[in-house]
Amino acid sequence: MILDIINKKANNYELTKEELETIFMGYLKDEVKDYQMSAFLMAICINDMSDSEIFALTDIFIRSGEVLDLSFIDAIKVDKHSTGGVGDKTTLIVAPLVASCNVPVIKMSGRGLGYTGGTIDKLESIPGFKVDLTEEKIRRQAKEIGIVITSQTKDLAPLDKKVYALRDVTATTNSIPLIASSIMSKKIAGGADKIVIDIKVGNGALIKTMEDAKRLESLLIKIGTYYQKEVRTVISNMDRPLGHNIGNKLEVLEALDVLKGKEKGKLLDLSLELASKMVSMGKGISTEAAMKEVKENIKTGKALNKFLEFIKYQHGDIDNLEIDAKVYNIKANKSGILKDINALSIAKLSESLGAGRKNKDDKIDYNAGIIIKKEIGDEIKEGDILASLYTNIDNKEFNLERIFEIS
Ligand code: URA
Repeated sequence: MILDIINKKANNYELTKEELETIFMGYLKDEVKDYQMSAFLMAICINDMSDSEIFALTDIFIRSGEVLDLSFIDAIKVDKHSTGGVGDKTTLIVAPLVASCNVPVIKMSGRGLGYTGGTIDKLESIPGFKVDLTEEKIRRQAKEIGIVITSQTKDLAPLDKKVYALRDVTATTNSIPLIASSIMSKKIAGGADKIVIDIKVGNGALIKTMEDAKRLESLLIKIGTYYQKEVRTVISNMDRPLGHNIGNKLEVLEALDVLKGKEKGKLLDLSLELASKMVSMGKGISTEAAMKEVKENIKTGKALNKFLEFIKYQHGDIDNLEIDAKVYNIKANKSGILKDINALSIAKLSESLGAGRKNKDDKIDYNAGIIIKKEIGDEIKEGDILASLYTNIDNKEFNLERIFEIS
């Protein structure tokens, strides 16, 4: 039976929901083996999925676990998701910014696998910050301050988790239908009413081409419509890192700078775009009116105050956030104009400094990371500092190839 289903997909026939359920739920129960699921996932990568197969798979993922009930919050709950990028600390900026506009943000976030940490890792780099909240605490905090970011309390879409772990090691991560059902199943199980999704495209992202990004966008919106959840999207570039800081504690410091109004540029612009979409959806106002409100809340310090209130409420001590690591400066070996900063190479370097994890039990060094000191288009003189690297690994040899392009 399992072989018939794999064969059917390998021969490019459409599968029924029952067939998808048999193979995927069989995998969750360990009745279908890793090697069988690997072959099946590769057949999906090669032959794609129809819309009805994608809806069916999303449903199977959702029903494999629990669904969070956030109905105790008497307002529209808007969630945000990013398909993952280098230096992407927008959640740290956007969540308090949106909450400061009186749109509640209750977010379950994850630890990261791969080159950089996830939002929970970034928050955990703040001394004392608690990420494991009970449901009772989530309720109280949501009512009192309108913002909660916690690690997953419930077993949301466990089948997606198991399948994703296998995709990660079988070169099957980049299938657009698999990405769409993976993201939407988690968001729907997370209990949000409306969802904003930041689709990253470029060399430092899972999605490499605009064509794929557009297809993913259309699928995410279609799945949302099927579940009566409004989905809005942003497609943002990930050929270059987002902002200047990469690494967990360094990213918290940069998020603080943005909220203090000290940093302009792509990171601020993207954060404003995401936040204004969320506020627009949460309040039912135009994106222009929402944009005005979020900009005002950065200017007046309301968003910063909400961030500080949120960190304190979850027991974090942000007053003395210092980087405890050795610093190595990368200097330019020639003069010219800075043409490019390669996101993927920066991500690999950052992981090699200790800022990411390859396996889920690896320990992250919260202090490790990179601060990029120059902007694209800057005139560079030989010997200028291009970036500072922070690490606690002794005698480290850095791979600096293909990071900065100067010509
Ligand atoms: N993010 C997810 O949650 N799942 C994917 O498959 C890709 C990005």
